[in-house]
Amino acid sequence: MPPGAARHVSAQARSTRRFFFAAGHRYWVAEWSPAQNEKTFGRLTIPHGHNYMLDVTVRGPIDERTGMVIDLGELKRIVTETVVDRFDHADLNADPLFRDRVPTTENIALAVWDLLAPKLGPDRLGGVRVWEDATLFVDYSGRATGGASRGGASGEASADMDGKW
Ligand code: NI
Repeated sequence: MPPGAARHVSAQARSTRRFFFAAGHRYWVAEWSPAQNEKTFGRLTIPHGHNYMLDVTVRGPIDERTGMVIDLGELKRIVTETVVDRFDHADLNADPLFRDRVPTTENIALAVWDLLAPKLGPDRLGGVRVWEDATLFVDYSGRATGGASRGGASGEASADMDGKW
């Protein structure tokens, strides 16, 4: 086989960019009594804030011309406009995204995914990691879809969360 006919396989990579936002929240389920909330969440029922870190990973082939998986300027613009501008210095409990769910780190990761997936494409969005502080992070990489999954016999479920300890 002549060299020029070698099968071309594009190199895949994952690029991650980090963002920051400060936001307030408290853990509270409206349908529960104050006693039930306090029993379940303790001092987390008191409004307080965190300096969150958010790592957004984009996956895909490395573009042969630009050498990039994604224009990192474009990624910065999308995440800033979609997530950071919305959550920074916000009361998360007042955001409609958390009307029916407690703004835990898990649910923030879910909300960030749901905001970014339509903008970046669920195939391109490789995962989000939300850090509540230096000791706690949650990873989320999308719900399992019923559709065809390339390279996986069973359509590998990709919804997972870990990091909470
Ligand atoms: Ni908190």
